[in-house]
Amino acid sequence: MPNELETISTVESKSVNNLTDSFNREHSYLRISLIEKCNLRCTYCMPAEGVTLSPPDSIMSATEVLEIAKTFVASGVTKIRLTGGEPLLRKDFETIYNGLTKLPAEIGITTNAVLLDKYLPLFKEKEMKSINISLDTLSKKKFHEITRRDQFDRVMNNIYATLNAGIQPRINVVLLRDFNENEINDFIELTKDMPLIIRFIEFMPFEGNEWKTEKLVSLASILQNVGEHFGGANIERIQDKPNDTSKNYRIKGFNGSFSVISTVTNPFCDSCNRIRLTANGTIKNCLFSDGEVNILEPFRKNEAIMPIVKMALGEKHKMRGGMDTLEQFSDPKKNQANRSMILIGG
Ligand code: 5AD
Ligand code: SF4
Repeated sequence: MPNELETISTVESKSVNNLTDSFNREHSYLRISLIEKCNLRCTYCMPAEGVTLSPPDSIMSATEVLEIAKTFVASGVTKIRLTGGEPLLRKDFETIYNGLTKLPAEIGITTNAVLLDKYLPLFKEKEMKSINISLDTLSKKKFHEITRRDQFDRVMNNIYATLNAGIQPRINVVLLRDFNENEINDFIELTKDMPLIIRFIEFMPFEGNEWKTEKLVSLASILQNVGEHFGGANIERIQDKPNDTSKNYRIKGFNGSFSVISTVTNPFCDSCNRIRLTANGTIKNCLFSDGEVNILEPFRKNEAIMPIVKMALGEKHKMRGGMDTLEQFSDPKKNQANRSMILIGG
């Protein structure tokens, strides 16, 4: 069998994007989930009873991930993010990452940082573009409550190690009313001296995560809370990049910045450029669509996968998998039809 690194013959960077949907959105950002397993059990991501995992032979191998990614890049993808589950739990993570760095695309990762120290030298060497770290609380006790695991110290140490390696991590904080909303300003205080980017994420509904509107901390209430603490006039709005899902801010004079990802109250579907590939090789055209199209089976039969991907994109809804209004989004019959986040990939 040829070495998978060699099979990734150089794909020329293409300016043409073939991945357009019926609303003229070009999809240049592929999020690949590498694994359905995780070493934490965040309550909003994984139901308490766990999830049914796909059979191991239906999970993409390293070679398959690399070949499929190459096809996407040839169709116009310029940015790839590795997610999970916890992507660093893959035994062959290094092979996959090294292979992807040979493609003309920016590579990023979303991780819970438990195993991050082991990979920092590699990420530094290969100039990893973006590391997003999930951390919902600055309290060791509450960390255990939300993740059902005792890894707070490791995660904190690995955040410092990432900064020391000269990489600026983004910290993902899912806000839950009566759990961590009182820590918003503590998180922002960290950005005074450290060049961290704190990203507050509105809690989103997925199967089994007991989502309720009352648990949601909205963009408006976050800004009000920050304004009361730091003074409204000290909050500076930072220019968002094209296709940014977050609204970006900085406290005047602070080193780092913070942002809000307001999927629920202020969605950014109009400029969506994302397409998702789950660990078991299915395309999700939107985080909230319940439909999935398998491309791994046809790929294994040597069939062309891009026509299938384009068909899946053709079915992409204008907004949040068809849940256009907050009422629809809040309806459990609609929002619980979607797989748990752990199976989709963050
Ligand atoms: N709501 C919002 N964000 C979520 N994530 C997982 N589940 C949810 C949810 N229900 C995000 C977390 C984590 C990433 C893997 O996915 O921010 O960082
Ligand atoms: Fe694991 Fe991330 Fe899900 Fe937490 S949010 S259980 S760290 S995949």
